[in-house]
Amino acid sequence: MRIEKFQYISELKNYVGQQVELKGWVSTKRDSKGLVFIVLRDGSGFAQCVIDINKAGEAVFEETKRLTLESSLSLTGNVVQDEKQIGGYEVQVATLQVISIASEYPIAKKEHGIDFLIENRHLWLRSKKQWAIMRVRNKIIFAIHSYFQKNNFLQLDAPIFTGNAVEGTTTLFETDFFSKPAYLSQSGQLYGEALAMAHGKIYTFGPTFRAEKSKTRRHLSEFWMIEPEMAFYDLDMNMELIEDFIKNVVNDVMADCKEELEVLERDLTYLQNAVTKKFPRIHYDDAVKIIRGEKDVDGKNSIKTLEDDVADLKTKKTLLEKEITERETKINSGALKQGEINFNRNKIDTIKNEIKELDEKLTNIPQWLASAKKFEWGGDLGASDETILTRLFDCPVMVYNWPAQVKAFYMKRDPKDERYVKGVDVLAPEGYGEIVGGAEREDNLDFLIERIKHEGLPMEVFEWYLDLRRFGSVPHAGFGLGLERIVMWITGIQHIREAIPFPRFYGRLEP
Ligand code: 4AD
Ligand code: MG
Repeated sequence: MRIEKFQYISELKNYVGQQVELKGWVSTKRDSKGLVFIVLRDGSGFAQCVIDINKAGEAVFEETKRLTLESSLSLTGNVVQDEKQIGGYEVQVATLQVISIASEYPIAKKEHGIDFLIENRHLWLRSKKQWAIMRVRNKIIFAIHSYFQKNNFLQLDAPIFTGNAVEGTTTLFETDFFSKPAYLSQSGQLYGEALAMAHGKIYTFGPTFRAEKSKTRRHLSEFWMIEPEMAFYDLDMNMELIEDFIKNVVNDVMADCKEELEVLERDLTYLQNAVTKKFPRIHYDDAVKIIRGEKDVDGKNSIKTLEDDVADLKTKKTLLEKEITERETKINSGALKQGEINFNRNKIDTIKNEIKELDEKLTNIPQWLASAKKFEWGGDLGASDETILTRLFDCPVMVYNWPAQVKAFYMKRDPKDERYVKGVDVLAPEGYGEIVGGAEREDNLDFLIERIKHEGLPMEVFEWYLDLRRFGSVPHAGFGLGLERIVMWITGIQHIREAIPFPRFYGRLEP
């Protein structure tokens, strides 16, 4: 059923040569020689709307004059096809009505720092790039549900208030549950296991919480996790599923979010590879050798590759610095009009930001390399180790069979060599790193009890979980995908904070 009597920008293609009524906000406005150009946004898209002062008449002209950035309005007009315009259509305005005049909008066109933008997240969400990211996020969520529903998984929810730690005790948010201490869930997995014993194949999809007191590009205190759990699955089946699942999600997003990925200027090469290429599966021991530079991949050495990257970055930096000098010379020459001067100044600002990013890499990479060379067997991979490893591959990789000491208590030990557990991490390419963590679960009651004791966890709160091994224990496996991590990778953004509508991280509770 259609409720609205007006049209949406996303529907303009069906109305070429016809009148439409649009409702939205002023995204940009400029005028030149009796014409006013408004880029209207209405949630469904962006479209240029042109007001010809001579044709539109006095009343429309007066209304147009009042419009400030982000003012809301409704308008009617004729739709014309115009490939050059944003979205491919333009609306020639006949009538226009102001709904509300906006005060001076704090987020103007110039470059703002991330802190300012996060402070204004409630408004920042309206900007084009953020609009595109949120639409991709929505599509990813839809693709996830559709994949699991098609494959006969039930979505069932785990509680948020819990009595037990899942992923270590250092990142727990403690809260008060009717005078009893409780934690906000770090993961729905343990409940997922109970549900898998009742329904076979399930997935949970909900918010999870980690009290990490650090501000990194890829950690949030509150993030969404998708956690499938499957009875009668082993590690290999788990890895098959993870790969097929990611391929399907990426494929769906590429098919349905072309416009958004274009807005984000996303290079699609690696995403395409993720759909078509088989994900390499790397034993932890081999990952260690590759990171240390002791084992090559297709003739490529990790240490050498990153050293070459540093040399390339230095060349790039020199070129950018040269460009700044050239533009400054032009500005100071006195031969430019004000508009051209502003244009060059904006360009210089953008280049300076690029140089800042290069500098960050130029400081980081040598440190990463130093620590990579010293990487010791038995350690967890840090973000920089993941970057070094994935740099040698052009699609996601799966690292499996981890040392027991770095992984959670519930992972099944490898019967062939008890130093290892049957865990797997999926690392996204292009420096994004871990997006999935999963494992076959320990199904032996005695081993599990031993592991819980060894971790120093309180046994009482795990009694219900141990029942799953007392009553018809079976091999089973599952994994957790961090929603914001995959949003980050698919959209190609640098900060996980942009991957969720209202991010929560150390020091940020508003807006
Ligand atoms: O690797 P993790 O800690 O695994 C688990 O929680 C398992 N219980 C999952 C399972 O087997 N059912 O977390 C899983 C994923 C990570 O790979 C990462 O993508 C994401 O959750 N993640 C975070 N995302 C954002 N901010 C954080 N602080 C995150 N911590 C983990
Ligand atoms: Mg993990």
